[in-house]
Amino acid sequence: MRWRSLRFALTAEPRSANRCQLSTVNCQLLNPLVQPDFREIESNWKSLPPLTDYRQLSRMVVYNSLNICSIVHQRIIMNLALSQIGTQMSNLTGVRAIMKDIQETLTARKGQDFINLSAGNPVILPEIEQMWRDYTIELLDSPDYGEVVCRYGSSQGYQPLIDAVVTDFNHRYSLNLTSRNVLITPGSQSLYFYAINAFGGQTAGGMKQVVLPLSPDYTGYGGMAIVPDSIFAYKPTLDIDAANHRFKYRPDFSQLRIGEDTGCVLFSRPCNPTGNVLTDEEVHKITDLAASYDVPVLIDSAYAPPFPSLNFTEMTPIFGDNILHCMSLSKAGLPGERIGIALGSEKLIGILESFQTNMCIHSSRYGQAIAAKAVASGRLADLATTVIRPYYQQKFAVLEAGLTKFMPQDLPWYLHRGEGAIFAWMWFQDLPITDWELYEALKQVGIIVVPGSSFFPGLREDWAHKQQCIRISLTASDAQITTAMERLAAVVTGVYQGK
Ligand SMILES: Cc1ncc(COP(=O)(O)O)c(C=O)c1O
Repeated sequence: MRWRSLRFALTAEPRSANRCQLSTVNCQLLNPLVQPDFREIESNWKSLPPLTDYRQLSRMVVYNSLNICSIVHQRIIMNLALSQIGTQMSNLTGVRAIMKDIQETLTARKGQDFINLSAGNPVILPEIEQMWRDYTIELLDSPDYGEVVCRYGSSQGYQPLIDAVVTDFNHRYSLNLTSRNVLITPGSQSLYFYAINAFGGQTAGGMKQVVLPLSPDYTGYGGMAIVPDSIFAYKPTLDIDAANHRFKYRPDFSQLRIGEDTGCVLFSRPCNPTGNVLTDEEVHKITDLAASYDVPVLIDSAYAPPFPSLNFTEMTPIFGDNILHCMSLSKAGLPGERIGIALGSEKLIGILESFQTNMCIHSSRYGQAIAAKAVASGRLADLATTVIRPYYQQKFAVLEAGLTKFMPQDLPWYLHRGEGAIFAWMWFQDLPITDWELYEALKQVGIIVVPGSSFFPGLREDWAHKQQCIRISLTASDAQITTAMERLAAVVTGVYQGK
């Protein structure tokens, strides 16, 4: 048995995230008498299509390389020992795994007319696209262009964007922020990655938990922790309005524990997937509990005011010494440019900034430059309330009307109160099948939703409710939403009747 190094394969093909993490692949030559020509393999390798995983990589070498094929009986087995973190991070978690299934379904049944209510992508609204286009043109025509895109910048962010955010928030919310209180990140997802792993995980004094006080919550939190056990979510209480088929999750303060072993607290407000908005009182209760132990609280404000202002109920952003107010421009029409913004104390911001320097230096400066103009002019905040919010709020009304019209009164279905975000969340009490089976049944009638069970990251408890929910995106047309509610009603009725 002999081992040879296939180092070139890794350096020549940096397209797979997996392979970039390793520098060497060992090839086990099962027939040691045959010497493969590694130079020829390398040149063949470069003409191969992009690969997505190691098994595929191994097969490609075996079957696609002329060299290997011509050396008959020669087999190469890739023997990759990924680190624990490598294994963990190379897995699809939560909703990303479902999205793969959805993508495969859509591709496999290309001719079929699906109504896709699974999208996490915001709708491209013409007024919003126009705004980003206008500021791009302004940037291209300005002498700043070279400075913006042809140079590295500071890890903390592009100064005009930081200044615009400071001015806007100080004025809007009567704060005393300085530029040291702001960090710009490549999307807010990265911000949570830094925080979860900086504040949570293994410490000299034991494990620090990342507490999610209200489950369900954003599925993305699930895949981020380098120590996955550090994520700990609490089961909510249910506020049920049976007569109107509505409900709302509330934090269960009789169970919620924040203490010495808490690294940080994290929740989205408004919440993806439920559309819940924690009340000011609930937020203060959580932040006060955390403040007694100097625990940072991250309030994921990806859907909050002042942009994208996807709250359909009154809500005020809440600030404080131990609060990191975390924003995203993704739902304000700029998901492709990856802009996240954290506001908080200098100390907390400094920790996250260093994490960012180590990880990626800084966020894209083109995106930051056009965002600076949109924030400073006030146009982004204006369009958020005049265009973005009404668009999704109206979609929610269409969905409610469809449910009222088609869902039978006598079945125990519940729609979560639509207080914000771009989704509707439904619970089917005592559903005779799982959420995954319901997802499959809906696919059969041309409707794609997201099964709810992937939105309970960190909730260890067995709870039938986790398998009784679905998430519906508010991104389809009015007619599609109405048709989908009609078909959903028919499927759910059949399921409860045992058909
Ligand atoms: C609640 C919530 N937080 C964070 C994110 C990540 O957003 P981004 O990294 O695009 O800023 C999303 C994306 O959908 C989200 O819904």
